[in-house]
Amino acid sequence: MSSSPLTCLVIGTGGREHALARALSLDPGVGAVHAAPGNPGIAAVATLHDVDPLSGESVADLAESLGADLVVVGPEAPLVAGVADVVRARGIAVFGPSGAAAQLEGSKAFAKEVMEAAGVPTAAAMVCTTPVEVQAALDAYGPPYVVKDDGLAAGKGVVVTTDRDAAVEHAAQCERVVIEEFLDGPEVSLFALTDGTTVYPLQPAQDFKRIFDGDEGANTGGMGAYTPLPWAPEGLVEEVLRDVLQPTVDEMARRGTPFSGLLYAGLALTSRGVRVVEFNARFGDPETQPLMALLDSPLSPLLMGSATGTLASVPAPAWKPGAAVAVVMASAGYPESSSKGDVIRGLPDAEALEGVHVIHAGTAMVERATVTAGGRVLAVVGTGGSLGEAREAAYDGVSCIEFEGAQHRTDIAAKAAAGEA
Ligand code: AMP
Ligand code: GLY
Repeated sequence: MSSSPLTCLVIGTGGREHALARALSLDPGVGAVHAAPGNPGIAAVATLHDVDPLSGESVADLAESLGADLVVVGPEAPLVAGVADVVRARGIAVFGPSGAAAQLEGSKAFAKEVMEAAGVPTAAAMVCTTPVEVQAALDAYGPPYVVKDDGLAAGKGVVVTTDRDAAVEHAAQCERVVIEEFLDGPEVSLFALTDGTTVYPLQPAQDFKRIFDGDEGANTGGMGAYTPLPWAPEGLVEEVLRDVLQPTVDEMARRGTPFSGLLYAGLALTSRGVRVVEFNARFGDPETQPLMALLDSPLSPLLMGSATGTLASVPAPAWKPGAAVAVVMASAGYPESSSKGDVIRGLPDAEALEGVHVIHAGTAMVERATVTAGGRVLAVVGTGGSLGEAREAAYDGVSCIEFEGAQHRTDIAAKAAAGEA
């Protein structure tokens, strides 16, 4: 029983959106892929359109004019702004949670409340709005201090430091802060597709958040990622499904704000067990890049099933053997600032390598040249039979690409590939 090919519209401009649009373009069930606003990389796999991604009406108008069967909202800001609600209200299937459900990412305090109600293990935390409360919370948990802006901050709202003055200073810059207990242990990104009832976890991935090798320097949106995790404890996915993902989805439904779309659990595997570091309400970036490279199932039935409450009738995601590694190349100054307009050379050479593709994030076309246009410029994705092979492919790709002030980490997936993670 094959239905007519789908027309899909992907909203966003980043690497995640490129990886999703690329996977949709390779899906035999998809007839047309559109994206808005997109980027030059996405233009190779989709037809681009202009839109204000934060305007639900504009996104819904565009979807209607294209006859889109499915709208995929990539980034968190439109989701929190309720863009999915407007599209859904026009009777168009949309992958992504309602504005109310996206508060799982939009407010760290809300996420803590849901986790508490659902019995989901997470760091103990206090929500503070005054300097007195901040001092009391810092005293209560001690160093290292973890101070988080309550609202969305593009991955840069969190300060983890042993320097009390720096902790106090960050707290003072936020209207409302969440101060919490420090979680030790390796981090895992576990994504799950859900329609509000059924939950399908994806393969675990790991993200590298700090700018420099050895996890030194400032937090970024993510400098690289890989999947699978050969070192992950057996039964991790089942445990997280049982103790984290399903209870959270069930609690959101119980509250009358069912969560559909992608639930991203950022986890710490601490000495005392698995703890949630954060939830996001969308695919993670750059983890989506290696995950899409290894997804063996067609993507559209999974997204459509999540969007329409029919996920249980879609087979669970299947994975290709082997591994995938994504290495982010960032522009000069990132993450404090970024550089625009630097010409990017060597993209075709990288793409010509076996097992290598390049996912664009902050790029633009100026007079037929691809130039930098943001902090994280692109991700080189390598696949191979093992993590070591995938890593080698990704770094072979990186070595082909040049732009002024380019920065990348040299240790993405290195420990895991060497069996040292
Ligand atoms: P978040 O935006 O909440 O994911 O935080 C960004 C990064 O800060 C996380 O990926 C962790 O590396 C770090 N982090 C956040 N919360 C904690 C915590 N409670 N203990 C240790 N590190 C944390
Ligand atoms: N890779 C981290 C994030 O997408 O938030």
